[in-house]
Amino acid sequence: MTEWRVPLSVLDYGVEEAAAAQRVIGRKWLSMGPEVLAFEREFAALQNCKYAYALSSATAALHLAMHAIGIGPGDEVIQPGANFVAAANMTLLAGATPVFADICSLTEPTLDPRHVEQLITSRTKAIVPMHYGGNLARMRELLEICKQHGLMLIEDSCHALGAAYHDAQGRAPHRSMAGSIGDIGTFSFYANKNLACGEGGMLVTDRDDFSERIQMMRSHGMTRSSWERHGGAGSYDIAVSGFNYRLDELHAAIGRAQLAKLLDGNARRRQLLARYRDGLRGDERWSMVFADRVEHSAGHLMVVVADSAETRTDGVRALRDIGVQTSRHYPSILEFSGFRERFTAHLELTHQFAKRAITLPLHPNLSVEHVDEIVHTLRALP
Ligand SMILES: Cc1ncc(COP(=O)(O)O)c(C=O)c1O
Repeated sequence: MTEWRVPLSVLDYGVEEAAAAQRVIGRKWLSMGPEVLAFEREFAALQNCKYAYALSSATAALHLAMHAIGIGPGDEVIQPGANFVAAANMTLLAGATPVFADICSLTEPTLDPRHVEQLITSRTKAIVPMHYGGNLARMRELLEICKQHGLMLIEDSCHALGAAYHDAQGRAPHRSMAGSIGDIGTFSFYANKNLACGEGGMLVTDRDDFSERIQMMRSHGMTRSSWERHGGAGSYDIAVSGFNYRLDELHAAIGRAQLAKLLDGNARRRQLLARYRDGLRGDERWSMVFADRVEHSAGHLMVVVADSAETRTDGVRALRDIGVQTSRHYPSILEFSGFRERFTAHLELTHQFAKRAITLPLHPNLSVEHVDEIVHTLRALP
């Protein structure tokens, strides 16, 4: 494994996470129990939503969301081609067809509502926008489209925990937290996320009609959990056939410690984003995504788009030479070997974005000196 001098992301773990793990070890109750229940309560409070269900991953959350909505064979689900593959995979697992839409622009790489409208057919059942890098998709337009066409809206909010929606005039609607604007929101606690547990996820919703089903489906379809039965609640029934998508107590306890730090960490990420933005200003070769919305971002990713694929390659190489790790979020799903033969759509902006975007280091403990060094390296390219 390469040891990067400046890695893309570094865990913000300390005594709080160690104490949380110790608490679980001391209690000797390992799967869904008091930590999971408290994590869900605290998460729902942040989201200002009725229900939050802790799960083993965001992929599980997307799968359960599609299940709860009743997405199945013959249905179409519109989603961005510039995305992590989980939503597409879960659409296929549900037996439905993912329909890939383009992004708004190279500096606003979220689902383009105008393209979404063109793709709607009588088979369309849901839209799954993704809040790229911590920045919300155009929710007002997408909600309006869903209302007009009777579609469900699942927000893939894996990048955007803690971000709130503001429209172009800076106004925030009543339900503004990323993930709590549409019908269902999904979150990931994968190792590189703003709230990191290694693995884990959360599904949030205000919909009473989905909540009971989701709660049962995450644990085999059982009407009562082991923890409830431990408390004297008697036996259980299997009302529907479900999965095992439970989160365990260790992950939930660490998740609670991480949740307590989340908003401060996001604020620090925004300061660093602003530093990158100011440092790169005026260099025409590099355009930062969502540069004008840093103050509303969850600051998950720092992404710049190069003026060409060659400039990207030069930038990545120059940074690698000084020990700075970079990444690409994301290759276009349509260009993966498992997708390109089945899905022939061409999304030009998604394609360009995949060729030209570089993800730069960003995490709460990244130093300003490292940001300045990265900016200097990019600006100094011949
Ligand atoms: C946008 C997005 N969606 C979904 C996922 C899947 O999350 P998980 O690994 O928790 O299943 C990720 C994780 O990287 C992601 O970034």
